[in-house]
Amino acid sequence: MSKLRIAIQKSGRLSADSLNVLSECGIRVKNGGKLKAEAANFPLEALFLRDDDIPQYVADNVADIGILGQNVVIEKAKNVVVQKTLGFSKCRLSLAVKREDEYTNTSWFEGKKIATSYPVILSKYLQEKGVNASIEEISGSVEIAPGIGLADGVCDIVSTGSTLLTNGLKEVETVMKSEAVLVSSPNLSTEKQALLDQLLFRLEAVQNAQQNKYILLNAPNAKLNEISALLPGMKSPTILPLAQEGWSSLHSVVKEDEFWEVIDQLKGLGAQGILVCPIEKMIL
Ligand code: PRP
Ligand code: ZN
Repeated sequence: MSKLRIAIQKSGRLSADSLNVLSECGIRVKNGGKLKAEAANFPLEALFLRDDDIPQYVADNVADIGILGQNVVIEKAKNVVVQKTLGFSKCRLSLAVKREDEYTNTSWFEGKKIATSYPVILSKYLQEKGVNASIEEISGSVEIAPGIGLADGVCDIVSTGSTLLTNGLKEVETVMKSEAVLVSSPNLSTEKQALLDQLLFRLEAVQNAQQNKYILLNAPNAKLNEISALLPGMKSPTILPLAQEGWSSLHSVVKEDEFWEVIDQLKGLGAQGILVCPIEKMIL
């Protein structure tokens, strides 16, 4: 039986999150420092690679799928299909200059030198802004370039901002926002496509669960219709009578971000004992 081969970042911002999302899909893979590892309970084999190399491996069919940042997918512009945005490892590709520099706007970079591992994205951005700057392409430790006199500024990934801070730099422009995506090779065999579909189904269930909450509350029977309308849930809410006359317990599902919008209305309608609980998996 064929196995789905997934390329994952060997070490870096994406590695732990990538293994984590697989584990939430019930697929256990160990990153034991080796190049390859097999999943215990799904026909999947993981290859641990530098994230910058993943588009090439997937485009060349060495790996069937991969998890990496949108920034790398765009920069490398290889023949891969983005199957799903994954909602983790969120970051931005930003321009940064020395903390003591008096930055005005993008014209500050006119005639200056910028160090980056993202020359394609950066040159497009500079062109759009009408700025002429020279790009110094380096593959790693971009943040030290201004300090050693290699460049005036950098264009690099910022997540928590601690790398910039410890290197005496300040973020001045956001070039693009990025998050992790699942990519696939454009021509998978029918067997591998079926495995990918299974994985996508599980990822969907994990994402739905993260975006929704299970809500339980006690409501006066007279207000059940109005409260149900605020919490339509997946099909309709479950309503069970309470032992106390005139009251019911209502169970439903609510989007995390919508919950805060309806909470005051629920209270206004007399809802009491509102519990909001996490959902482990959710299949629509
Ligand atoms: C990026 C970037 C910084 C770090 C920034 O590296 O080059 O080193 O993340 O994160 P922070 O704002 O939380 O300090 P990345 O994870 O993309 O690894 P790579 O450059 O080795 O591919
Ligand atoms: Zn990288």
